[in-house]
Amino acid sequence: MNSERHLLIPKIESGIVIDHVPAGLGAGILELLRSYAGLDDAQITLGLNYDSNKLGRKDMLKIIAPELPKKVLAHLSILASGVTIKRVDNYRVQGKYSLQPPDHIEGLARCINPNCISNHERQASARFTRLGETSHKFRCAYCERVFELDELDIVLP
Ligand code: CTP
Ligand code: ZN
Repeated sequence: MNSERHLLIPKIESGIVIDHVPAGLGAGILELLRSYAGLDDAQITLGLNYDSNKLGRKDMLKIIAPELPKKVLAHLSILASGVTIKRVDNYRVQGKYSLQPPDHIEGLARCINPNCISNHERQASARFTRLGETSHKFRCAYCERVFELDELDIVLP
């Protein structure tokens, strides 16, 4: 490779890599991470449109932080389920798993049905339940309408 023409994103000593991000989702994930108080000054690199055997094109993020807070993972599992979370220590990938959609969503997404009571009653925080173990469909606890995970309106912290 010609080093004058390529600037590679360096490996990290320790932190978290979010890999296999479908191309186009990386910027939204960055926005989500940066809106969390604990991560707003973390070192993060974002790569867009890498070649990927699995996805064709993918985005990737590298975050210098010991771990991602639980709430961030819950948020990510709505925004970008299917991504791979890799923990790096001592320059090595020490563990990885694929982030699955949650069974329940509470307070992290709004119902997109404009008539849904969860959008009108202050006390009613939107809740959704997954239709089945392998499903990407969720039912709103209030209006009972069923939505695809990627249709839900994410609530940033
Ligand atoms: N990585 C990093 N810093 C390290 C080690 C790995 O940034 N110290 C990043 C690499 O840049 C690469 C990814 O983590 O993007 C590699 O993860 P790994 O699981 O080792 O790669 P593969 O096994 O090739 O990936 P896959 O999960 O697609 O099989
Ligand atoms: Zn609803």
